[in-house]
Amino acid sequence: MSYFAYHLGLHEEDLSGVTLALVPGAPERCVKIAAAYGTYRELAVHREFKTILAESEEGKVLVVSSGIGGPSLSIAVEELARLGIRHFIRAGTCGAIQEDVGIGDLVVSEGAVRLDGTSDHYAPVSYPACADHALTTYLLRAGRELGHRVRLGLTCSTASFYPGQERYDTFSGYVIRGLRNTFEEWKRLGVLNYEMEIATLFTVCRVLGLKAAAVCGVLVSRIQEETVDLLIKPEVEMKVSETVALAAKLILRKEFRNAEE
Ligand code: URA
Repeated sequence: MSYFAYHLGLHEEDLSGVTLALVPGAPERCVKIAAAYGTYRELAVHREFKTILAESEEGKVLVVSSGIGGPSLSIAVEELARLGIRHFIRAGTCGAIQEDVGIGDLVVSEGAVRLDGTSDHYAPVSYPACADHALTTYLLRAGRELGHRVRLGLTCSTASFYPGQERYDTFSGYVIRGLRNTFEEWKRLGVLNYEMEIATLFTVCRVLGLKAAAVCGVLVSRIQEETVDLLIKPEVEMKVSETVALAAKLILRKEFRNAEE
């Protein structure tokens, strides 16, 4: 009997042999990405997981939302791997923590600080969260071909949006001792941005023998403020969508035609 993915609400045959998934956090971003890629049809919507099958002359890709944070992303990766997905590209948004990374820039992650919580269930904390080099190269190329400002570097993935990213503009205004001054420390250590899923994605994929890469559009410069400006969100999401769609095409044109070495 074919495998049924309980949380995603998908059967193995629904994927028609697709092995590459584009993974935003938000369900509503799936359509933007699928439309940037080609024609598309929705396969399933269950909880935070929306799945769309998109097609262009390069081939088919799956677009699946992971929800927010490591716990739900790990569920998506586990189930997608059993359905046949082997390559994952996260299409996210983030907050920048360096002066020279601005709103609207794209950050491609080569590795991530593992403050996500979930990756600890897959590997000891000393295990690095690293991107797949080849997939990352395609993302960089796609972003630059589209004329976007693209940065390559380290990301800090946190288990919470507020205290984990040292935000004080909150209900209590309080950040526990262990997280105070961590913003300044990650900045000093050269980390480019904060988000909530990449460390889980990179760790889980490495451990399971899968390939992963990630790009995030900068929604807020944390050097200046804590609050995300909603007005710039559509433009940033469009840059990310176009970038992962083009990267997927480049990958399907070259990588997979070379017979999945
Ligand atoms: N996503 C995050 O996790 N943090 C931000 O500041 C913006 C988007």
